[in-house]
Amino acid sequence: MTSNTYTLQILAGDGIGSEIMGEAKKIIGWINSNSDITINTRDGLIGGASIDTYGNPLDDTTLEQCRNADAILLGAVGGTKWGDIEYNLRPEAGLLKLRKELELFANLRPALVFDALIDASTLKPEIVRGLDILIVRELTGGVYFGEPRGIEDLGNGQRRGINTQVYTTMEIERVARVAFDLARKRGNKVTSCEKANVMESGLLWREDVTALHEKEFKDVELEHMYADNCAMQLLRNPSQFDVIVTDNLFGDILSDAAAMLTGSLGMLPSASLGQVGSVALYEPVHGSAPDIAGLGKANPLATILSLAMCLRYSLDQGVMADKIEQAVKAVLNSGTRTADIMADNCRQVSTSDMGDAIIAELDK
Ligand code: IPM
Ligand code: MG
Repeated sequence: MTSNTYTLQILAGDGIGSEIMGEAKKIIGWINSNSDITINTRDGLIGGASIDTYGNPLDDTTLEQCRNADAILLGAVGGTKWGDIEYNLRPEAGLLKLRKELELFANLRPALVFDALIDASTLKPEIVRGLDILIVRELTGGVYFGEPRGIEDLGNGQRRGINTQVYTTMEIERVARVAFDLARKRGNKVTSCEKANVMESGLLWREDVTALHEKEFKDVELEHMYADNCAMQLLRNPSQFDVIVTDNLFGDILSDAAAMLTGSLGMLPSASLGQVGSVALYEPVHGSAPDIAGLGKANPLATILSLAMCLRYSLDQGVMADKIEQAVKAVLNSGTRTADIMADNCRQVSTSDMGDAIIAELDK
């Protein structure tokens, strides 16, 4: 085995997961045949697919395989079929368990506007042209995992729903460090978002980010912003942002808003990283889209771009990552589109045709 040989754990998941993953596998096949990189793939189940087979959304054997892989590529989880199950056994719980068990605390969600897709945005072209934002979302803490949680019976016909927002200095510092490091390689600016005006955990967030900045990252521009203002500013003037760092819940919401600026959720990849050198997870930002599953309509580009992120961040194969991203740009420029990004004078293609178009471009 050469150092260019890797094991990639594949978790296609539910809904459109298997279709989009099929296209990512075509690209992996191309890489294996046309470069000195060898990516051995291994398939596993997560989400509803795992519930149907193992009775739980992430089985221990699958988790162990994930731990031992060089990286993980995931499709999507969830579907109405599993909607009535209790929280800790739902498809989404498999994904949350994977994030938590592997300590994937930094979720990178780039929102990038491709020139060819500028008209797909619901915002005016002059507002979104050239947009390139990176949201760094804390992924293993906050209200998603805080205790106590639950629904209590108050006995008088009333109930109480409880979740806890909690952050420690260690959790805040490690995700902020990722954001500052990445900013240095980009626009050198970090906007840190919380609600320090109403939440103690937000105040701690602000103080810890400020202290870390003072200590290690004075060369990076730091700005603090309340999360609600950030949502507003994303729509008003998104170009003011470079890197946004925020907690788990605000990051969930702000990253959906940022994604929509680009016009297509079907285009956006993400990376979930843990400590340097540990296994990382790559997945499209979009969900399992059960309404179009099996119809050949899904856009595989977010998954293919997630594979590119995987090559760059986990496998240290930046040149191949660039090549794939360039191929995606070229295919979009040529007017080849899946239904979600279809526009006038373009050619609408299926999921599988889109994968083939990327391969044809890579072959050039
Ligand atoms: C996301 C999703 C997940 C989340 C769901 C599927 C649990 O919305 O990755 O943004 O809330 O984190
Ligand atoms: Mg979300």
